[in-house]
Order: sequence, then C-alpha cells, then structure tokens
Amino acid sequence: MMLLLVLIALQLTSTLALDNGLVPTPPMGWLSWQRFRCITDCKKYPNECISEDLIQRQALLMVSEGYLDAGYEYVGIDDCWLEKERDADGRMVPDRHRFPSGMKSLSDFLHSKGLKFAMYQDYGTKTCAGYPGVLGHEALDVKTFVEWEIDYLKLDGCYVETDKMDTGYPEFGKLMNESGRPIVYSCSWPAYQKKPNYKSIAEHCNLWRNYDDIMDSWQSLTNISDWFAENQDELVQYAGPGHWNDPDMLLIGNYGLSWDQARVQMAVWSILAAPLLMSVDLATIRPEFKEILLNRDAIAVDQDPLGKQGRRVGKIKNIEIWNRELSDGAYALAFVSRRDDGSPYSITVTYEDMKIPEHNYDIKDIYNDEPNVPSLSPDMKFETRVNPSGVRFYKFVPKSSNFIYNENSKEKSETTESSKTSDTTEPSQRKRKNMKMYFVSNL
Ligand code: GLA
Repeated sequence: MMLLLVLIALQLTSTLALDNGLVPTPPMGWLSWQRFRCITDCKKYPNECISEDLIQRQALLMVSEGYLDAGYEYVGIDDCWLEKERDADGRMVPDRHRFPSGMKSLSDFLHSKGLKFAMYQDYGTKTCAGYPGVLGHEALDVKTFVEWEIDYLKLDGCYVETDKMDTGYPEFGKLMNESGRPIVYSCSWPAYQKKPNYKSIAEHCNLWRNYDDIMDSWQSLTNISDWFAENQDELVQYAGPGHWNDPDMLLIGNYGLSWDQARVQMAVWSILAAPLLMSVDLATIRPEFKEILLNRDAIAVDQDPLGKQGRRVGKIKNIEIWNRELSDGAYALAFVSRRDDGSPYSITVTYEDMKIPEHNYDIKDIYNDEPNVPSLSPDMKFETRVNPSGVRFYKFVPKSSNFIYNENSKEKSETTESSKTSDTTEPSQRKRKNMKMYFVSNL
C-alpha cells in the first residue's frame, strides 16, 4: 500500500513538473508593458496603443534593425489586449477594434518573420488592468492559446488569493505541458508572496518575476538591483538552464535613464542571467541606446551557457562590484557607481575584492571604453574609473590554456593538457544539476 502511494506521488510530481526543454539561456525579446502600458485609445495615440498594428511595427523593426539577429526573438503583448467580456462560449476575445485580424493571424505574421509570440494572462479572475483572467476557464484558455500558437505565456497574479498560487500555477503549467505545444511559462507567482517556495517555482516555471514592477527611473532600477543583491544567497541557486529569476523588463531607450544608467541596467541584468526583455519604441529609440541593447559581448554574458546567476560581491567607496562566473573559466565583472559626485571616480581593487581565482587574465572591456586593457596577474591590482551612476563592464578570460573547472566540487585548479579529452560536450548540452565534468578553456 505504502509503495503504491509513493508511486502515485512520484507520478504526480513527474507529470506536474515542467520539463519543456525551453530557454536553456534566459529568454530575449520585446514586451509591450513598460513603454506602452495600457494605452487603448488608438485615435488619440495611433502609434502607441496596444494593437496588432503596434506589435507588427515593432516586430518588423526587430528584424530589420538587427535585434532578432542579436537574439531578441520573443515579441510579447502584455496586458490590455482583451475585450472586457468573454464570448458566449466562455472564450477569450481579443479587443475587436485593436486586434481586428485576431491572434492566430498575428501569430502567423510573427512566425513568418522568424519571431516567437509571447502572450499575457493572469491566474486570477481579472488581469491587473481589469480584463478577464483565466481562473475558472483554465482548460479552455490553454486550448485557445494553443490554437493561436503562442510560444510564451506571462501569467500574472492579480485578483487571486496568494496561497492558491502554490497549486494553481503548477496546475496551469500541467495543462500547458499536456497540450503538447512547447510554451515558455513565465510566472508572476513569487512576486505576490511573502515567502515564496522557490524550489517548487523553479520546478514549474521557466522564469518568474520575483519582485516589484520596474518603473522608468534610476531609483526603481537600483531598488530592484539592491533587492536582488540582498536576496542573492537564496535566489542564485534556483537559476539555471530552463529556469530563471526575472528582475523585470529593460528600461533602456525610454525616458527615465541616462545613457550611463542604461549601460548599468544592461550590465547588471546580464550578470544576473536575467531575461532580456526590451520595452521601448524601436521606431524612435536613439542610436546610442540601441547600441547598448545590441552589444554582443554584454548579450554573451547574459546568455552564457553555464547559466550561473552572478552576485554583487562587494562595494568599495560606493562602487559596487558584480561578478558572474562564465563558462570556460571566465568571469564577467561590473563596477557600478552609486556615487553622484560630478567626475568619474577611480578605485583600485584586489583579486579578493573581485572574488576571482588567482590566474592570469586577459581583459576585454565590454563597452569598449578602453580598447586595450592590460592583462592582469595575481601580483597586481586592478584599477578602474567609473562615471557617476555609470558602469565599467569587463570580461576576464584566464590566460592559461590549461585551466579546468569542476562544477560539482567547486574546485578550480591547473592541470595538464591531457585532461582536454575528458569532455567534448558543448556546455549548453549539459544538464547543470548533474554536471560532473571538466572543460578546458582557450584551447
Ligand atoms: C502587473 C505586472 C506588470 C504588468 C501589469 C499589467 O503589474 O507585474 O509587469 O504586466 O501587471 O497590468
């Protein structure tokens, strides 16, 4: 009897757990909310209202301006796409004036451009902006989303009791799993709870909003990055291929951040292995902000196949040091100034300050502020000069060709060339949890 119960329990957890093989690296794309909010008056604001026209215009720019090539592939409609009432059969109805062609047609359009379709709904009775939510209509809504061929669903958590989420989000995920269509599952579940069960959240969701909504300001950005730093001891263990913490959308290119501050967000989000979801008018974005979003080296940090979320490892003279371990023994280091004195400020730091192993490093300046950064060895200190509310962002690549890394034991050591043969698998193909293997950098 006991055995039977255990078997049933195992069966239940295995069917509930999300294993859709999606987002081995954090998702990248464009989402309407932060910039376009709930603008629904298309007469007054024809270029900004939430509509198929807006989505199509942004999608075309994603392709023509090189965002898709850089990895931004999901195009998402956030809240305010629905009619206020379901139809007579209980089905969701997209706003008839703003989405006259319907969602399947929009989905086909996006797919024909090589993009993926992201959608928004809410686990409660209403979405946060007051449109019909999924509660009570879960199976029909999943069926409808599958018919529309969506690729990603952000499921928000307004208008529902928060303790219902612990079973509700997994159940909704199970319906999506069983539908047979691979759909990235973005859960807002922990953002609404005081003590979220991250173990369960990471098992059932591909990404999850942990904390408050981002607003278009430096204050909001630093509030979020402080929260992630203060909670990093708990959070980092849950991030990895297929499951990511989500500090919310990129503000880059909008009204509230200076150019320096926008570079901070790109650097810190990349260190955090955060989803890179732009929310900006790609028709009017200024070139210097576009350049930040398209910085291939920053994107490579975010998309590093090891999938290990970084941390804030220190603060010296009000300059924060952020560190992320990358594959092949490299490190991303961001020095973020929280100072407001008028000129750039220099600090000199040790290996211990940066929390990096004692190797010789070649250094790449990711924003190319200094094209040739001298290499660094353990007998030296590292000096950097950071603009007020700005960042210097680097990749430290170990010089030795015989550096090995053992994920399980967390040991790092030098070895001989002969251990090269111990692994030929691509890092991205490995399951992080079971990783017991070596790889050799810079061969
Ligand atoms: C919540 C979410 C936001 C956005 C709005 C839409 O506040 O956290 O990201 O989706 O709802 O109403």
